[in-house]
Amino acid sequence: MEITAELKEKLSQLNEKYAALGEDFNAYLEGLLHADVTTYWDYIQLDTLLSLQKPKTSFPDEVVFIMYHQITELYFKLALREFEALGQMTSLNKSHFIDRVGRINRYFDALVKSFEVMIDGMDREEFLKFRMSLLPASGFQSAQYREIEIYSTDFINLVAKDVREEMRGVDEIDQLFDHIYWKAGATEAESGKKTLTLIQFEEKYKNHFIALGNHCKHKNLWQGYLRLSKEDQADENVKQVLRQNDTNVNINWPLAHYKSAVKYLARQDKDVTATGGTNWQKYLPPRFQKRIFYPELWTTKEHENWGKMWVEDNLK
Ligand code: HEM
Repeated sequence: MEITAELKEKLSQLNEKYAALGEDFNAYLEGLLHADVTTYWDYIQLDTLLSLQKPKTSFPDEVVFIMYHQITELYFKLALREFEALGQMTSLNKSHFIDRVGRINRYFDALVKSFEVMIDGMDREEFLKFRMSLLPASGFQSAQYREIEIYSTDFINLVAKDVREEMRGVDEIDQLFDHIYWKAGATEAESGKKTLTLIQFEEKYKNHFIALGNHCKHKNLWQGYLRLSKEDQADENVKQVLRQNDTNVNINWPLAHYKSAVKYLARQDKDVTATGGTNWQKYLPPRFQKRIFYPELWTTKEHENWGKMWVEDNLK
């Protein structure tokens, strides 16, 4: 290849870049002579990625279960990057807001649609056997799922609905955390005791969640919305992208997930108990949890009917 004027210009720019860093560009050029070119498999760390499936049993469908959880966690990670980036922005405008929340919505659309991989994609008898080798682990312990909630809304909206009004006005995240709604999901149905699933989860993540709650006080997505100009806040497209986010995370995903619990754990006579004996039928459906990130954007009737339609159509 000819040493063109364009190439010389690039070399000169690179020389300046390294000089500014106090480095000798020649040495870096020599490094380039010896370096391997990038390959697809190294770039995306394919060997590592494909070595991360370590089933606990020899039932083939356990790998489907592991991989779909891993896929979900990767989408959660993509969503969290957007939440954090939005939180950092001091001057937000409506098109950027719609664009970035739209990304999060697409990740959840993909997850909701693909949940059929779980619902229809495993042999029920195999599932009921291999799940016993995983106890007390549960998707309940997905820290990224909890982070998404903390990044979305003011912490008060994550407080269990029966004490939410009482706690309104409390500013300390550690006090609100004591009443976070999901503790009920890992409490023994009969004795009211915390399950090992919950005890271990809190041991590992409690401090992290409280710190994140403090970090997100002024940086969660709802606060991002409130930083928009009044005119942008009133824009129907802005409100719609947030309502879609609320629907995706708090109705569509939980219902797709609930459908898989019904498919594998529900029985004609007596339902299969969930991890640690929790009452998943009374906990998982969104109409019971009434988790709403942006309550101001819904009507009273919509609050009342939260998550009801789908359940009535599909499960009754
Ligand atoms: C056949 C597939 C699945 C079944 C039968 C199932 C079942 C359950 C059950 C019974 C619970 C209640 C807590 C417990 O007792 O463990 C739960 C919670 C949970 N699972 Fe799954 N699950 C499945 C797949 C998944 C997948 C793929 C994910 C993705 C990460 C996931 C994430 C969660 C989360 C985040 C919770 C807590 C939900 C909340 O607090 O509202 N699960 N699951």
